[in-house]
Amino acid sequence: KACGMALIALLPGDGIGPEVIEQALRVLDALELDLTYEEAPVGGAAYHALGHPLPDTTLDVARRADALLFGAVGDPTCDGLERALRPEQAILGLRKHLGLFSNLRPATLFEGLEDASALKPEIARAIDLVIVRELNGDVYFGDKGRRATADGHREGYDIMSYDETEVRRIARVGFETARRRRGQLCSVDKANVLETSQLWRDVVIEVSADYADVALTHMYVDNAAMQLVRNPGQFDVIVTGNLFGDILSDQASMCAGSIGMLPSASLDDAGKGLYEPIHGSAPDIAGQGKANPCAAILSAAMMLRHSLGQPQAADRIEAAVAQAIRTGARTADLAGTMTTSRMGDAVLAVL
Ligand code: NAI
Ligand code: MG
Repeated sequence: KACGMALIALLPGDGIGPEVIEQALRVLDALELDLTYEEAPVGGAAYHALGHPLPDTTLDVARRADALLFGAVGDPTCDGLERALRPEQAILGLRKHLGLFSNLRPATLFEGLEDASALKPEIARAIDLVIVRELNGDVYFGDKGRRATADGHREGYDIMSYDETEVRRIARVGFETARRRRGQLCSVDKANVLETSQLWRDVVIEVSADYADVALTHMYVDNAAMQLVRNPGQFDVIVTGNLFGDILSDQASMCAGSIGMLPSASLDDAGKGLYEPIHGSAPDIAGQGKANPCAAILSAAMMLRHSLGQPQAADRIEAAVAQAIRTGARTADLAGTMTTSRMGDAVLAVL
């Protein structure tokens, strides 16, 4: 969709969500793009205002929008609620209702953040990868519940399953992403133990027939976790299921400096997307002006590139964040002293 009043659903959420989204909006405003916004509550904010983490009115805005800019949800005051009313149901519901099945999570080390990475500088510097995580299936969406064992003990269960159509469509996204990058796709599974993973591997190999130009490898998830820390530079694109992708992408974020730096895109098959930092609502620092807004700002850039057809504007934002970081702008998670809004100022100053 090129210009012409694109409609953005603005979903700040709770915790640090609204704080980081505020900075992303300042950056978008500075570019004077033709965007309109419709704000709606999600997560704890929506529960407290309307009694549900994903009200129908919010879902309606989300359906009408060209793209969604999402902060985070996870208000701990909702901790005692039944699962269906917990804040996280907002993000799970949006992914499911809108068919946002592919989650792109790029991880690169910004120049100057070598010290912030949990890895040795020379190892960290080599990180330039994208995790393509499946979002609509796996153990998150399978049948789940509690029951009693035959001898009366409590038991919890969550069913992990993937059907071949789900694997095929995410595999294609993985191959397409690798084709546009360095042409290497690593499919991560646990095929030595899980039947779901064996099907995953079979289908990925079938799809690879259409992508002779992409080098496909397979790795067990436990080894992948190790390799991400040992030598992340070996990865170009990783494609994996919902659960493994969730865990590996948080891990990759620390290799790249901070979870506060990593954006994500969650896309359907027509280019509509939800854009959000990979972090949660960080209740431990919410309301204190400590959150790093870069992940949210970079998520806005991904939105411009993937859903709004404005790659130059996306480039400008990414370059501005890189320049601000290079010249020393740091929030507390990067061992700096800047507040959330000062970090936003630093990016705006470059723009
Ligand atoms: P989290 O990502 O919210 O926080 C993990 C750690 O990273 C905390 O110490 C936090 O202070 C820090 N952190 C996160 N974002 C940061 C930022 N932008 N700047 C500086 N430091 C940052 O994960 P946690 O604590 O496990 O979950 C908190 C709540 O968020 C939970 O209710 C969880 O379910 C929810 N959550 C929501 C997500 C979403 O909205 N998509 C994703 C992940 C978790
Ligand atoms: Mg996560």
